Amino acid sequence: MTGFDSRALAGKSAFVAGGTSGINLEIALMFAEQGAKVAVLSRSEEKVKSAVAQLEQNGGPALGFAADVRDYPAVEKAIHGAAEAFGPLDIVVSGAAGNFLCAACKMSPNAFKSVVDIDLLGTFNVLRSAYDVVRKPGAAMINISAPQSTEPHWGQAHVSAAKAGVDMLTRSLALEWGPEGIRVNAIVPGPTEGTEGMARLAPTAEIRTFIEGMVPLRRFGTKREIANLAVFLAGPGAAYMTGAILYCDGGQVLVGSRPKPPGM
Ligand code: NAP
Ligand code: COA
Repeated sequence: MTGFDSRALAGKSAFVAGGTSGINLEIALMFAEQGAKVAVLSRSEEKVKSAVAQLEQNGGPALGFAADVRDYPAVEKAIHGAAEAFGPLDIVVSGAAGNFLCAACKMSPNAFKSVVDIDLLGTFNVLRSAYDVVRKPGAAMINISAPQSTEPHWGQAHVSAAKAGVDMLTRSLALEWGPEGIRVNAIVPGPTEGTEGMARLAPTAEIRTFIEGMVPLRRFGTKREIANLAVFLAGPGAAYMTGAILYCDGGQVLVGSRPKPPGM
């Protein structure tokens, strides 16, 4: 079930940073299904190769780049390379992220820095280098944020700080780049089934049940449900939307900050 009847992104070119697994890979695959040419980037050569193969099966053509979003020259080379191959980029997604549960009093400065650098600096690097090669007017940029951006979560000081920055970067770039016809929006997924993120944040059945109980719809979301929103934001239906931070979270944001989870 896609929610879309036709190839909504036919002829478009897309770049998905962090698009080799989980939610971002599902977004990349759905873009391909909807007719887009898709390039993905992440650190692992193996994951890049596997994602490209899946994208080609889903419609193709596809490209992959092994690079770290913290490395600006490498990101720029990849994004400019994708634009050379595909033409001006119509859609850019920034979703690379790192996470682990760690109480702030036990976190090293380098642990904090690693996550801020991947999530926040990485998002700047992706969008900044894409700015030079996106279609103007017409491009859609989509950042992947997280519920921690507005609600502090236990063991998540690094992610909360980084994703709050991602939200404000989304709004700042929407403001600055709107006059050139570039839209910049963000998606806030709730707890999502079958992802690395939830494997790290809900490592036991007890914690999973606890989190489900905090979601008004009383279940985890699916990767497909998040990808649907990305296709909408990338397409003509969202032509007048920019600077929006959109929740796809079963209503979790309505409940506010979670109490300390068992075992923390
Ligand atoms: P995931 O499968 O681990 O996806 C992360 C992706 O980013 C992978 O492709 C990873 O590939 C890449 N990546 C990580 N560090 C990188 C770096 N330094 N440079 C380049 N690429 C890097 O995780 P996920 O759970 O699906 O999360 C995807 C996004 O959704 C993240 O932005 C996360 O914050 C957000 N989110 C997830 C949930 C959830 O329930 N899972 C909830 C809210 C928000 P490599 O290892 O090959 O680099
Ligand atoms: N608890 C506390 N600190 C941790 C940690 C954990 N579970 N995992 C890593 N760190 C610390 C390391 O000890 C190191 O700090 P130090 O130098 O003071 O010892 C720092 O974080 C960097 O670790 P390193 O492994 O060198 O970083 P990296 O850049 O190779 O990897 C991570 C980044 C740590 C975020 C890694 O978990 C990762 O690659 N994650 C991507 C996948 C992911 O998190 N997916 C879910 C997205 S929601």
